[in-house]
Amino acid sequence: MSATTRTLTLTDNETGKSMELPVLSGTIGPDVVDVRKVYGELGYFTYDPGYGSTGSCSSKITYIDGEEGILQYRGYPIQQLAESSNFLEVAYLILWGELPTQAEYDKFQYSISHHTLLNEQIITFFRGFRRDSHPMAVMCGVVGALSAFYHDHLDMSDPEDRRIASYRLISKMPTIAAHAYKYSQGQPFVYPKNDYGYTENLLHMTFATPCEDYKVTKVQAKALDRLFLLHADHEQNASTSTVRLAGSSGANPFACIAAGIASLWGPAHGGANEAVLTMLNEIGTKDHIPEYIKRAKDHDDPFRLMGFGHRVYKNYDPRAKIIQESCYEVLDELGMHDDPLLQLAMELERIALEDDYFISHKLYPNVDFYSGIIYRAMGFPPSMFTALFATARTVGWIAQWGEMLTDPEARIGRPRQLFTGAAERNYTPIDKR
Ligand code: ACO
Repeated sequence: MSATTRTLTLTDNETGKSMELPVLSGTIGPDVVDVRKVYGELGYFTYDPGYGSTGSCSSKITYIDGEEGILQYRGYPIQQLAESSNFLEVAYLILWGELPTQAEYDKFQYSISHHTLLNEQIITFFRGFRRDSHPMAVMCGVVGALSAFYHDHLDMSDPEDRRIASYRLISKMPTIAAHAYKYSQGQPFVYPKNDYGYTENLLHMTFATPCEDYKVTKVQAKALDRLFLLHADHEQNASTSTVRLAGSSGANPFACIAAGIASLWGPAHGGANEAVLTMLNEIGTKDHIPEYIKRAKDHDDPFRLMGFGHRVYKNYDPRAKIIQESCYEVLDELGMHDDPLLQLAMELERIALEDDYFISHKLYPNVDFYSGIIYRAMGFPPSMFTALFATARTVGWIAQWGEMLTDPEARIGRPRQLFTGAAERNYTPIDKR
């Protein structure tokens, strides 16, 4: 980040007081106006609910150009990474800033595959949940509970302690997600196998039973790996900002990631992948599409086309395009290329993209539109879709948390407000109200 010679002048036309706001430049992307001193000098807060115009931090991890549909991790275009890399290599890149050498990759892969077991006491914790608990509720609780297991000896100012916490989280998330599924099915937990790849292990722990191995096909493991790679980070979205905000107070990293999981769960964010499936099932057949498109356009109807629209992308979400291709591959492999749900999704997309409302509002399919169709084809129930998203996004969350802790400009997150409630008034005793 560098200061330009440009400034913006902010003038109060009532008092005549004014100040110069420095303009800062990143490597690429829009410049930002530095408003840090506005309150001190002019006595104003800035107002931006939803943070549509507000940069909350500087970051070197992920770059998005929403107008052009560009997504890059550490400078590498997402298309190149999806084509040539894999989730663990990308995880390393996101965490450490550079692609690993073979030796670095092997060491990282070994480390991640050797922290997959959960403390057996955590297993008892799972058993406390209701049988029908949503996997995201279970993940939120179990990941939060990990903070009780790894707290006393954790020194967050020590890079090695931060590294170990990060690796533990990335390693254990597939185990936690798979155990959440097993618990909901009333099946025994299946333990991780260290010689399996990351997504292969997750599929194994989810679908194998003590009586029967599960044969993970290459196409399935690859498709899941690619989905994870595409979900690994997405700069300062709601859940990542939640992790940063929670972490800004110096909170335990496992507790911060639990906060991120909670934020991701909402249907406007990561919960949309589950909501898309619910919506497609509700639409049912192609002849009902116009009715739902009409509802989505009606501002008096709360219905929205799930998997469509994005705060940042005003163009096709680049991840959605790649996922659409994977979708064909997986369904082909599973002999499901005529899957009625895929046909329905494609027709819905076609009709929406030709509709004036969706064109003028720049609403395109997002990452969640097709991902659920792949997860479902692999055998995951819709309630697991967001848990899979959370597993992949843990990489981004923990990398952003680590970046924040080492940022000399970072302070505890403390937004201000425009107070619109009652001004001071006197307490009235209850019998006088
Ligand atoms: N269907 C119909 N209309 C929509 C949709 C949609 N999916 N999304 C946005 N709009 C309309 C809004 O009604 C609004 O219209 P108006 O300007 O005429 O009033 C306009 O587009 C702008 O919408 P906002 O809600 O202001 O946009 P915002 O940036 O706040 O929200 C969001 C983005 C939450 C993603 C929204 O598009 C949405 O709800 N989409 C459906 C849920 C979804 O798919 N979420 C996943 C996002 S990707 C992710 O988090 C991983």
